[in-house]
Amino acid sequence: MLNLDFHPTGRHFLQIPGPSPVPDRVLRAMSLPTIDHRGPEFGALGLQVLGKVKQIFQTRHPVVIYPASGTGAWEAALTNVCSPGDHLLMYETGHFAWLWQQMAKRLGLVPEVIALPGTCAATGLPNSWRHGVQADLIEARLKADTAHQIKAVCVVHNETSTGVTSHIAAVRRAIDATKHPALLLVDTISGLASADYQHDAWGVDVTVSGSQKGLMLPPGISFNALSPKALEMSKHATLPTAFWAWDEIVEMNKSGYWPYTPNTNLLYGLNEACDMLLDTRHGGLPMTFARHHRWAEGVRSAVKAWGLAIQCADAAVYSPVLTGVVMPQGVDADAVRKLIYERFDCSLGTGLSKVKGRMFRIGHLGDCNDLTLMAALAGCEMGLKLAGVKLHGSGVQAAMDYFSAHAAPVALAKAA
Ligand SMILES: Cc1ncc(COP(=O)(O)O)c(C=O)c1O
Repeated sequence: MLNLDFHPTGRHFLQIPGPSPVPDRVLRAMSLPTIDHRGPEFGALGLQVLGKVKQIFQTRHPVVIYPASGTGAWEAALTNVCSPGDHLLMYETGHFAWLWQQMAKRLGLVPEVIALPGTCAATGLPNSWRHGVQADLIEARLKADTAHQIKAVCVVHNETSTGVTSHIAAVRRAIDATKHPALLLVDTISGLASADYQHDAWGVDVTVSGSQKGLMLPPGISFNALSPKALEMSKHATLPTAFWAWDEIVEMNKSGYWPYTPNTNLLYGLNEACDMLLDTRHGGLPMTFARHHRWAEGVRSAVKAWGLAIQCADAAVYSPVLTGVVMPQGVDADAVRKLIYERFDCSLGTGLSKVKGRMFRIGHLGDCNDLTLMAALAGCEMGLKLAGVKLHGSGVQAAMDYFSAHAAPVALAKAA
């Protein structure tokens, strides 16, 4: 028996950068009875969801939905457009960019990695894990590839392990400047629906995303948004695909169905989440992005008041999804996290691989608001003090000041 439903009182604070807190409205939608996935009602649901999800990716082209975690959608993106031995240019901005490289190797592809060299003297963290993609490095490498050996450029839009975003339109411009035919493959598993993301306008060929972050759903659904060029390439690519093959799915999706049993109840949830995100009464997608931007500013004001370093070293690419908090040398970030979990019922994200024990992550995605974030920051501040971390000042006070001085872009309905 799990303890999940047996909290003495109140809700657990899930402040990791995904899975994110799921709104009650979405949970209720998912509790509807599971229906026949070949029946008429399902076809109507499928068509609705596929239409709405295109608006979330800001695309007119097909979006493929898989009953899989984000890792599955990474594999789908690579296997549909690549042939054995193809070269990829993969930019390393953190743990997830690194994991995608490892997958490419397992699939028999040849990833060439670009990363900023060196280590930050103040924090001891790798520079590449504190900055976003530098498009000029991609441009220089593609210029040198006169034989056009590189099949695709792969970048992560929002690095969940670091709290750094990257300018995807700048990467597209860099590719175009060289007239190189490489495809642009982008992972926005944690960026979508919290940070602005424009599949068509930014010229992305395959966008990979997942359900358990900005879409406010449980894990279990993932996506490939396609460009016409990627679809055309998939006809000639020779890595084997079966479950992940786009052609059969795109064909059956035209009538709202899938070639296999889809994740029916998660699709109910997705339909509801899209309605919430696109709801014009709450400002639609632009206001969704504005809300996360503001929450991120509030959280960063707390970290700055504590006198701790934010992992992202470049304010121009701060993530609206999460904030990486670097511990002073000698403090074990995981011990601080454990204390906050045990004393205050709040989960924070652990540091991954190269930054394990050096930092923790505060998620500001999914179903949150000013006061849930204030509570999470209070848990952090109490835990940091209990762990003996010397703080310069009160982050809680700084965040309260920030939120009070900066009203939410769309005011809540006025109380009667
Ligand atoms: C940026 C990014 N890429 C890929 C993944 C892997 O996705 P999943 O764990 O759903 O397979 C994650 C998961 O957190 C992620 O944040």
